[in-house]
Amino acid sequence: MTTDTSPPTLPFAARADKLVGSVIDSSTSLLAAQSHDIVRFAMGSPAAEAIPTEILAEIGAKAIGAASPDAFDYAATEGDMPLRLALLEALEGTSDETTLERITITSGGMQGLDLAFKIFLDPGDLVVVESPTYTNGSATALSYEGDLLEVPVDDDGMVVESLPELVERAGRPPKVIYTVPTFQNPSGATLSLARRERLLELTRQWGSVLIDDDPYGMLRFAGSEVPTLHELAAGDPQVYSVRTFSKIVAPGLRVGWLDTDPSLQPLLINAKQAMDTCTNLPAQRLLTGFLTGGHLEAHLATQRAEYRVRKEAMQQALTEHFEGVARWTDPEGGFFLWMTFESGVDTEALFEVALAEGVAFIPGNAFSPGRHFPHALRMCFASTPPDRIREGLARLRSAVDKLAGTSR
Ligand SMILES: Cc1ncc(COP(=O)(O)O)c(C=O)c1O
Repeated sequence: MTTDTSPPTLPFAARADKLVGSVIDSSTSLLAAQSHDIVRFAMGSPAAEAIPTEILAEIGAKAIGAASPDAFDYAATEGDMPLRLALLEALEGTSDETTLERITITSGGMQGLDLAFKIFLDPGDLVVVESPTYTNGSATALSYEGDLLEVPVDDDGMVVESLPELVERAGRPPKVIYTVPTFQNPSGATLSLARRERLLELTRQWGSVLIDDDPYGMLRFAGSEVPTLHELAAGDPQVYSVRTFSKIVAPGLRVGWLDTDPSLQPLLINAKQAMDTCTNLPAQRLLTGFLTGGHLEAHLATQRAEYRVRKEAMQQALTEHFEGVARWTDPEGGFFLWMTFESGVDTEALFEVALAEGVAFIPGNAFSPGRHFPHALRMCFASTPPDRIREGLARLRSAVDKLAGTSR
């Protein structure tokens, strides 16, 4: 049988053409198809050793085993009540402390983002995004036909001071402002307190919705805490907070939560019912057991300590191989570090060479709809142990030299 790879002539909707995918997510299948050894700095996954598999297996045997067939039923669309209650308790005393009626369980953070753009965005609406920004967030806004306005990021996160002028030039206020405020994906930068406050002021002034997408905030390993936008907003309905268990427990569970004004929940439920009816119940039960068993705090403490070691290993190796050739950020938590070549290396071309050398990263342009970062790249330090990080950066240096035709 021959395989026809030409596009089928089917009656596609106009929107099918506007659907935007994710270079990051596609790297998972690309890497899975490689048979040689690759140091993987590409995906934003927690360390494999950091996934609490034994605890989850033990909980699974009890909470979703033969004795609990109801764990395989449909669940309430807003989330399984035991998980919502356990989450409420786990967040008590943190900057994400909340109330039951504000919580909606989602199928990962991505569904929280999709729901936001679905209920707030009409085609052509202005959406402020950071530059660089999280690819899947901007892809979702683009798929709903938002008009994206990229706002620069520096070491203190989005340059909020530049927003009024950029918005004025755009000629209309943003309907949605999308930020990843803490240990940003991809730059690792954290939005300062002063900028958080100013961003909230502007959100109110413009009548916008502020999407506060903060999956890494609990993974601080240096510096001092900054209150979440959720806490600073103090119940302001204009702030829509997206959270996930993907980075703090395990991404394959596909469970996250939204913390929004309670008045939004009926809308979120309607939208979610047309997507997936409810979030996977066995996964919710696993997380309920994890939270009620009191495992989260110790687990986070272990992760923070390990990620600090890994970030430092990556920075040392960067200094060894790239001093004077590139600069890089110094995140105080989270998963990512952002590297920019001073010498104009094309990181999309580098990707191919690096893959052959046995190291993978995500090229900078994947994080900017306007492709403003041809000489930058994102690396995840969290998923790779220090000795492999050193190996990966030696391979990256050799790839850079090969690309330049100056193999050393
Ligand atoms: C900023 C940000 N938001 C949302 C997500 C998506 O989270 P999830 O895997 O839970 O859908 C990610 C994952 O990389 C992320 O980095």
